[in-house]
Amino acid sequence: MPLEHNVSLKSYNTFGIEVTAANLLRVDSPQVLRQQLHHLPKPWMILGGGSNVLFTDNFPGTIIKNEIRGRDVLREDQIHVWVKLGAGENWHQAVLWAIENSWGGIENLSLIPGTVGAAPMQNIGAYGVELSSVFESLEALDLQSGSLHTFDAQQCQFDYRYSVFKGALKGQFMILSVILRLSKEPQFNTSYGALKDTLEDMGVQEPTLKAVSDAVIKIRQSKLPDPQIIGNAGSFFKNPSIPSSQFQKLKQANPDLPGYPINEDSVKVPAGWLIERCNWKGIRQGAIGVHDQQALVLVNHGGGNGKDLRRLARDIQASVKDTFGIELSPEVNII
Ligand code: FAD
Ligand code: EPU
Repeated sequence: MPLEHNVSLKSYNTFGIEVTAANLLRVDSPQVLRQQLHHLPKPWMILGGGSNVLFTDNFPGTIIKNEIRGRDVLREDQIHVWVKLGAGENWHQAVLWAIENSWGGIENLSLIPGTVGAAPMQNIGAYGVELSSVFESLEALDLQSGSLHTFDAQQCQFDYRYSVFKGALKGQFMILSVILRLSKEPQFNTSYGALKDTLEDMGVQEPTLKAVSDAVIKIRQSKLPDPQIIGNAGSFFKNPSIPSSQFQKLKQANPDLPGYPINEDSVKVPAGWLIERCNWKGIRQGAIGVHDQQALVLVNHGGGNGKDLRRLARDIQASVKDTFGIELSPEVNII
């Protein structure tokens, strides 16, 4: 495919930020990329659905837009099926495909925007399930050497909203395909409070893959803004983990502070609660602001720019730090 020049990225990022890329290459096969790689002006950035990025400026090099498709069943046994998905497949469509085929494991991850290839980047998670629980391996292209590599789950170093591709190997690989191990005998995970309540409200007694997916979709549509209507990238910050001793102290001063123990030493606290308590929820500064239903979601009401959003994010971080002594780290990739 030809290299495109001076391309608007507005429709390629769910914040709807109006910036341009000096160059953009659409890649629908690994061969296309390997042939062209060394002629592409640097810096390079891989882009999927743009649902976890904040552009703060025009991009001076080449955006490599991942459009590699494909869904294949690789093998199966009595309990599992191994499916290979092209990195440019839409994640939610892949979830629906799994549900249609009665393969369980990713129904709780329904309606997460973006591509399959970005899913391992931050080990996407929702409603008690993370990608790592069904992940088998991925294939990636080393952008320096052009060689192909396979990474298993251990090599990906998955953690909460983290993989090695956000750490030591940041910017070095393009993920080309992902293999998932799905289950023909689904083990439902419906313990997440909101999910349990919604299934009950729906009158579901015995969960099915479709019912769990529908319930997740219902919760998400009630809480999270639709990027087609209000620009956003989901949770802007990660939920922080703090030492149990600090949690106990904060809890004495703020009895309604929620907390989820991770182990004996640390507790995860919802960043949305901290931000709301610092009075940011629903604020609007011109075109940008904080969502009025979910304080963890920063929004672009239309015409906002990335620098202003980054400044708002920093102001929020400073006020949460001042008030609670807790550092918030962005989940969104700030470019
Ligand atoms: P992009 O935004 O295009 O890219 C994200 C990062 O990954 C960038 O650094 C990019 O360079 C890199 N990247 C992308 N593709 C590749 C590739 N093939 N190879 C190498 N690097 C690559 N996330 C959750 O975990 N849980 C949620 O519940 C959730 N809810 C959301 C709700 C909304 C309304 C929105 C807008 C976002 C939400 N997100 C959630 C965040 C986002 O959907 C995920 O992070 C998603 O996986 C991003 O996919 P993408 O294709 O849009 O990635
Ligand atoms: N809360 C508030 N005020 C708010 C928002 C949240 O007080 O404005 C508190 C409430 O106590 C609530 C708790 O935060 O019970 C948790 O809220 P919610 O269930 O909405 O989840 P979250 O922690 O805000 C996380 C993920 C989401 C994921 C949901 C469901 C992170 C950073 N975010 O949000 O992921 O969909 O749980 O599992 O872990 C994303 O990563 O982009 C994302 C949307």
